Amino acid sequence: MPRVRPNIPRIASSLITPESVYMSRRRLLRMAGLGLGAAALAACTPASAPTRTSMPASAIASPLATSDPKFKTDEFGTKANSWDEITRYNNYYEFSTDKEAVADLAANFKTNPWSVTVGGLVDKPKTFDLDDLHSLGEEERVYRLRCVEAWSMVIPWMGFPLSRLLREVQPTSKAKYVRFEAAFDAAQMPGVSSPFYNWPYVEGLRIDEAMHDLTFIATGLYGKPLPNQNGAPLRLVVPWKYGFKSIKAIVKIDLVENQPVSLWSAAAPSEYGFYSNVNPERAHPRWSQATERRIGELSRRDTLRFNGYEAQVADLYTGMDLYANY
Ligand code: MTE
Repeated sequence: MPRVRPNIPRIASSLITPESVYMSRRRLLRMAGLGLGAAALAACTPASAPTRTSMPASAIASPLATSDPKFKTDEFGTKANSWDEITRYNNYYEFSTDKEAVADLAANFKTNPWSVTVGGLVDKPKTFDLDDLHSLGEEERVYRLRCVEAWSMVIPWMGFPLSRLLREVQPTSKAKYVRFEAAFDAAQMPGVSSPFYNWPYVEGLRIDEAMHDLTFIATGLYGKPLPNQNGAPLRLVVPWKYGFKSIKAIVKIDLVENQPVSLWSAAAPSEYGFYSNVNPERAHPRWSQATERRIGELSRRDTLRFNGYEAQVADLYTGMDLYANY
């Protein structure tokens, strides 16, 4: 277990601990009980990671059938992760820091009715209800998701480009950034009693990042409504950035002039920068980002620059020092 630096608040988080060393004593004991030994551990296969055999027949059979090749992963032979893998292994700190506990704890989270207030530096502020959101369309995007913890998945989202929603409110020329805020409800979210985080969960994008074709609002998964544990009823998906940028359960979006401070940047600024573009060459202060463990696979893969979306997004950062601006 890497030592937590003394000047950082005790962030009780697997986010700051590589998965391979994060397994709790309980999980290790369970693995031992199952007769799994050092080989499984050395291969970094979490005892909790579900296997590919568990996709229910009800899941859509052809997750890679998105029409536009720009919006599906380009890895030869890539299959999307199974429904169970995607919905049983979640980071959602408002509910729990235990990835396996999130689905059950979030099961009764109330996501209807729901509204998202979009305002700030816009000409036409608007509160969107679920019908308004669904009227913005539903298309499929099969994206890689690379967590800063160095695991990854391929996920067939349903939803619409964020730019479509932003155009509805007409950002003014002063709007330079977009700030996203997640739901915060202590009565329904047991995780928010943690004093280590400055709730609510907040994230941000530069406006050109937010308007990019790839930047997506997901309202569904495998052709079904988005499960609570994945961020129902709507979450952001920014596939070239570490997964923590993809904020779940959004209730408020503001167009702003100054760079927003995210929950993670506030908790540990030297570890979780505003940009957080996936970059195999820039190690996290406490672990390498050069490789990743695709959930459902045994051996590690090389991590791709911008998570494989370099050709589509690199020009957003022309002239920027992405090492300094992590
Ligand atoms: N959004 C909220 N509101 N709360 C969270 O804890 N975790 C983030 C991101 N969005 C998080 C969140 C992290 S660290 C990751 S890796 C992804 O959600 C995980 O998404 P998934 O559970 O759908 O795989």
